[in-house]
Amino acid sequence: MASFYCYSLLLLLGLVSQAVATNLSRDFYSCTCPKLQPIVKKGVAEAIKKEARIGASILRLHFHDCFVNGCDASILLDDTGSFIGEKTAAPNNNSARGFNVIDDLKADVEKACPGVVSCADILTLAARDSVVLLGGPYWEVPLGRRDSTTASRLAANRSIPAPSLNLTNLISNFASHGLSVEDLVALSGAHTIGLARCVQFRPHIYNDSDIDASFAKSLQSKCPRRGNDNVLAPLDFQTPTCFDNLYFKHLLVKKGLLHSDQELFRGSSSTDKLVTKYASDTDAFFKDFAEGMIRMSKIKPLTGTKGQIRINCRKVN
Ligand code: HEM
Ligand SMILES: *[C@@H]1O[C@H](CO)[C@@H](O)[C@H](O)[C@H]1NC(C)=O
Ligand SMILES: *[C@@H]1O[C@H](CO)[C@@H](O)[C@H](O)[C@H]1NC(C)=O
Ligand SMILES: *[C@@H]1O[C@H](CO)[C@@H](O)[C@H](O)[C@H]1NC(C)=O
Ligand SMILES: *[C@@H]1O[C@H](CO)[C@@H](O)[C@H](O)[C@H]1NC(C)=O
Ligand SMILES: *[C@@H]1O[C@H](CO)[C@@H](O)[C@H](O)[C@H]1NC(C)=O
Repeated sequence: MASFYCYSLLLLLGLVSQAVATNLSRDFYSCTCPKLQPIVKKGVAEAIKKEARIGASILRLHFHDCFVNGCDASILLDDTGSFIGEKTAAPNNNSARGFNVIDDLKADVEKACPGVVSCADILTLAARDSVVLLGGPYWEVPLGRRDSTTASRLAANRSIPAPSLNLTNLISNFASHGLSVEDLVALSGAHTIGLARCVQFRPHIYNDSDIDASFAKSLQSKCPRRGNDNVLAPLDFQTPTCFDNLYFKHLLVKKGLLHSDQELFRGSSSTDKLVTKYASDTDAFFKDFAEGMIRMSKIKPLTGTKGQIRINCRKVN
């Protein structure tokens, strides 16, 4: 029965292969790697058990992958003689983490289904599982991405939004990736988990006026004007390992950690209403976040015969 289903599916895919060539689908690996999703979920659960923050780090890796020439696992490539990769780009250097977890997941998947599943799909699934395991929404992940054979530090420098951006620039950055204002606000809700470095939130706590005074003061005590660049603070100061809507509640009382966070709610921002909605309605946030994640995961995927299925996520085959 199962094999008949798979055979029919393959036949159908073959018949319409022209039409679906650039499309992703939930059951892309259902014949070729049926255990994929349980394998990834188990590996992510183990990693989060060791360190809860790693879920946030994996989610951010996926975001930084997709915003640089599409979701093609380019961020996972180490530097080579022919290109400098994305790991040392300004937004990633001393910041992007979780690469070893993806290596472990890839090794487990290779054992079960050698040469079949892309690093880009493994990273996309791991990001979804991280959100779910930390208490956030579940969504079905469209699959069938392939892996890039190159990476670009320049593109990473240029395409990933910086925390110094104002709302206008955040909106246009997301628009340049085909994402809406609603996507910007919902996806920024990822900052309900994880940590940021002093060097990233320093301008906001010293120079901005749209910040709660005592909140700024307590942050200034661990993040001085100079030095301690790598000291960490939670993006959601109350529950940085729970995927909830507190990030938005904090914005309403001027307790966003990054300049870019507080830009979404200034009392005069065009996005104030969305922030207020997500602050009072977790279901609405979860629904829009899941939809935004699916849209983000579809940015310029390599499909069909483009790219390759890397055996080692750090290296081109
Ligand atoms: C809207 C524009 C965004 C800006 C300007 C931004 C900026 C930042 C910055 C500066 C950090 C701290 C990095 C460090 O200190 O090393 C950070 C952390 C993080 N970002 Fe964003 N981000 C944005 C959107 C997103 C999106 C769309 C996602 C995912 C859907 C995301 C997920 C995360 C997570 C989970 C962390 C914590 C990572 C960890 O603890 O390892 N961010 N972000
Ligand atoms: C991908 O799927 C969508 C929706 O099913 C369809 O509208 C579109 O034409 C497809 N694109 C390609 C290139 O197959
Ligand atoms: C990355 O960070 C390391 C360690 O702080 C530093 O030595 C190096 O210059 C940085 N690289 C880039 C490209 O900024
Ligand atoms: C990207 O940014 C890094 C860190 O700021 C800088 O050292 C490097 O020159 C930039 N690289 C390119 C290719 O733009
Ligand atoms: C946002 O920043 C850009 C460039 O940094 C600037 O030109 C623009 O005036 C700013 N917009 C607002 C509304 O502050
Ligand atoms: C605050 O703004 C001033 C003036 O623009 C600038 O010189 C300084 O570097 C900024 N301080 C921080 C911590 O960003």
